[in-house]
Amino acid sequence: MALRLVAAFLLLCLASAAPAQQAVSWKTGREAQAIERRIDALLRRMTLKEKVGQLHLSGRGEGFDIDQVRSGEMGAVMNFVVPTEVLAVQKAVRESRLKIPLIIGLDAVHGFSTYFPFPLGQATSWNPELIEQAAYWSGREAAAAGINWTFAPMVDITRDPRWGRTLEGAGEDAHLGAVVAAARTRGYQRGGVATTVKHFVGYGAVEAGRDYNTAWIPTSQLFDVHLPPFKASLEAGTMTVMAAFNALNGVPATAHHGMLTDLLRGRWGFRGFVTSDFGSITELRQHGIARDDAEAARKALLAGIDMDMMGDAYHKHLADEVRVGRVPMRALDEAVRRVLRVKFHLGLFGRPDVDPAAAPRLMQTEAAREVALQAAREGAILLRNADDILPIRDSVKSVAVIGAMAVPEDERVWTDPAGLGRRVITPLPDALRERLPQDVRIVFKPAFTKNCGTEFAEKEAAVRAAAETDLIIAMMGEDCTFIGEAASRTKLGLPGVQQELLEALVATGKPVVLVLATARPLVLTWASEHVAAILQSFHGGTEARTAIADILTGRYNPSGRVPMSFPRSVGQVPVYYSQLPTGRPERPQERYSSIYMDELNEPLYPFGYGLSYSRFSYADPRVSAASMPLDGAVEVSVDVTNAGPRDGQEVAQLYIRKPVASLSRPLRELKGFTKVMLKAGERKTVRFRLEAARLGAHDDSGRYVVEPGEVEIYLGGSSRAAVKAQVRLTKS
Ligand code: NOJ
Repeated sequence: MALRLVAAFLLLCLASAAPAQQAVSWKTGREAQAIERRIDALLRRMTLKEKVGQLHLSGRGEGFDIDQVRSGEMGAVMNFVVPTEVLAVQKAVRESRLKIPLIIGLDAVHGFSTYFPFPLGQATSWNPELIEQAAYWSGREAAAAGINWTFAPMVDITRDPRWGRTLEGAGEDAHLGAVVAAARTRGYQRGGVATTVKHFVGYGAVEAGRDYNTAWIPTSQLFDVHLPPFKASLEAGTMTVMAAFNALNGVPATAHHGMLTDLLRGRWGFRGFVTSDFGSITELRQHGIARDDAEAARKALLAGIDMDMMGDAYHKHLADEVRVGRVPMRALDEAVRRVLRVKFHLGLFGRPDVDPAAAPRLMQTEAAREVALQAAREGAILLRNADDILPIRDSVKSVAVIGAMAVPEDERVWTDPAGLGRRVITPLPDALRERLPQDVRIVFKPAFTKNCGTEFAEKEAAVRAAAETDLIIAMMGEDCTFIGEAASRTKLGLPGVQQELLEALVATGKPVVLVLATARPLVLTWASEHVAAILQSFHGGTEARTAIADILTGRYNPSGRVPMSFPRSVGQVPVYYSQLPTGRPERPQERYSSIYMDELNEPLYPFGYGLSYSRFSYADPRVSAASMPLDGAVEVSVDVTNAGPRDGQEVAQLYIRKPVASLSRPLRELKGFTKVMLKAGERKTVRFRLEAARLGAHDDSGRYVVEPGEVEIYLGGSSRAAVKAQVRLTKS
């Protein structure tokens, strides 16, 4: 714990060493009241066209009409990343009648100039302080370039790795997802940009993992699994929300009054604005609930969508819809109020324009790169390490690094802040060279024409070179078109010709360490049986390869944990740890039990799992009281020992199960975790606070119920935690 505190303190010092940046947050009390009065005054002065303008979000590129900014017909822009261009649109605002500042948005999903691991690869660290720091620097760099709004965090829970956007979320679990959502929201907003929690809601559950497809989610599951990360982001102060592309239980999320208005505003009291996703208002036609764009615009606005991202439907039709009385002026005013409210709370009125001369100095600072390195280190998961092949032994005198991915083309650059600063990404062979003794020979062969691994450049030469070394490090995975939006897959093996190369490398008889950078948990069943070690990352960003080299050489003891179960076969999907029990629990060999004829039930690597170069053991679980009332709490503690040879970090996890309740409850539910640093041989007591109020579940009407009865508690280093305690929930 002490070391963790020191690390957190150092990170904070690094953060405060750089020039101050304005954190953004909701104002309260008199300040908030004064803002409402200013909005009233502004609304009174606005024409219909100007009101609609505030709801119109347009993007850099073809079709962008800067004159719409001058005429007050555009309230928001996106995808401007070069400060001089940001300045140009800000100047255009000054030429408009009311000079209402623009909200300037961008997907700074995993960084701006410094790249941190993709969100799934940050969730793997199970370290909320570090995740918050990564978001802080992402927001801060973006803010320095004049951006004041980001389309992050994506908090969609997904249990289906076929979905390409798996990479942008925090995995399969509601609790981990909520903790990560809150950390990322706090970080970005502290860095100076308003967050957009997205995609509301159910996008991670699209049927069969096919992007943009329909989601069917029972109410109890919606509330227990999919909504908690949104709630957590709201509680952490997110200023905006993005509606999802998909239909939820038959209603397109972009027109879902129940979610956008009744739940979000009504039950949860959200005061910010909701944006559509890219063009999703006009897509209401394709969804089959609007005849034309005018009807789509009306349905979206009345359901609760305030801003039209890249659809032009509000811009073209909303004024007419109001004029003819199909959309009440009241509804339009309310949407405009929400947009203006965010702009006021963000402090955009009166804020100086971006300073393009200052921006480059704030990119890729030492402090940001330090956080990127630590996030990439803590984000990598050691899935397999047969015979302790890693860290690389002294006896290894030659190493082959194989695979184009070892030398980055471009670490998944989503934004292109041209000319803003260095974008230095160290190649893996260079990073190893710096860390291994000088007499170790390092050979590098890309083998593929590109990172994608779809085509060989030189298979035979790569295999021959590898065969002449003591250890093969193959860096492979998913890249290019295989990751992100619209990258759904039905086969979850290595894309292209990578498996063929992997098999040829294994056939050399030399030990193979497979280093993976993927978009999702792949099916690694073959690899798990044939390679010596697997180090999994989800695209680690600017410092990805230095972090990998630190782990391979033992400078850093791996501590990443699985945030989403790795299936053994695609046919198991969805496979996740918090399943409900069945009436016929798995009994291998027993035909009429809940099993497959051709595959095991359990995943290859379960949620929460991850190896270290050390070993940790758990003992002596204690609960501060044998029972607690429904509004009470207990402290659960357990002793964790580092029984291995090296100092290392362990992610201590607490799961519960309610064996008897009025609704079937999951076999395991994560309710707490903490990352602890333990020296070799050291033992520490880890404590968790368990409130009864967190042990309930939602029923099918969306009502949250905490029931009396036994609660089993499991403590350990993965969702298979075996050390057990229990507590009884009582009525009084
Ligand atoms: C579509 C994506 O679904 C969304 O997440 C993203 O923020 C927007 N495009 C803007 O790029």
